[in-house]
Amino acid sequence: MRLEVDITGKTFRNAAGEAHEVLAPLAFSLRPGEVGVLIGPSGCGKSTLLRIILGLDREFAGRVSRPPDARIGMVFQEPRLLPWRTVEQNVRLAVPGVTDERLAELFRILELESHRAHYPGELSLGLARRVALARAFAVDPDILVLDEPLASLDETLAGRLRDEIATLVGRRPVMTLLVTHSLDDAIRLGDRLFFLSPRPARIVREVPISIPRARRGEAELARIRTELRAAPANLEPK
Ligand SMILES: Nc1ncnc2c1ncn2[C@@H]1O[C@H](COP(=O)(O)OP(=O)(O)OP(=O)(O)O)[C@@H](O)[C@H]1O
Ligand SMILES: [Mg+2]
Repeated sequence: MRLEVDITGKTFRNAAGEAHEVLAPLAFSLRPGEVGVLIGPSGCGKSTLLRIILGLDREFAGRVSRPPDARIGMVFQEPRLLPWRTVEQNVRLAVPGVTDERLAELFRILELESHRAHYPGELSLGLARRVALARAFAVDPDILVLDEPLASLDETLAGRLRDEIATLVGRRPVMTLLVTHSLDDAIRLGDRLFFLSPRPARIVREVPISIPRARRGEAELARIRTELRAAPANLEPK
């Protein structure tokens, strides 16, 4: 039971028929319980890669294999809520089996209790992102795909949500793929960091972090940061 990604290429064509190469050959796999982090420049192809992995874009060369019947939780880069449904309805509609207790727990952790009856148009971007996170967590996913889920949140809340992601991943053997521009989020949450080149994206460096998440105190994090700085991502193909 693994998520296996082996992409040989992905090209978009514009209206004039010109090819726009977005992904170069790129391969990795994730085991249950593992958090992979994708870090790369804006526009390099990260969200495109996630859409392919989720099966939302089938026009690519290569292969992606997901465990059959895997439950998938996804936070898109834009929160994508149904505008005519309340916060609570958005989560319940996406996850009809969610219990009242779990919903209450998620709304408490994500500080959404007072927003249950609000419509997406009444929310700030940070609040909308929290609803998208609640929806992804409520699925109790086997595969969790997060596209910059902590962007536009203040540091205190982002820290708490980071802990919540770590708790979820620690509780069940979830395969998690996280896109972030924050090296701090990457080293606090990741088991393996994949540094991507500018478009077309390929993996230019893979950094495993062997210290278990729960034991990464500030001293360990500082050491990992120093190690990463000492050997910056080189842009030669692996
Ligand atoms: N549907 C599409 N049709 C044509 N080109 C697209 C499409 N979606 C994305 N692209 C192009 O593919 C490239 C990669 O886009 P993508 O959204 O995957 O980047 P990203 O790494 O997620 O960037 P960011 O960090 O800014 O979110 C960009 O040049 C983008 O313009
Ligand atoms: Mg993106």
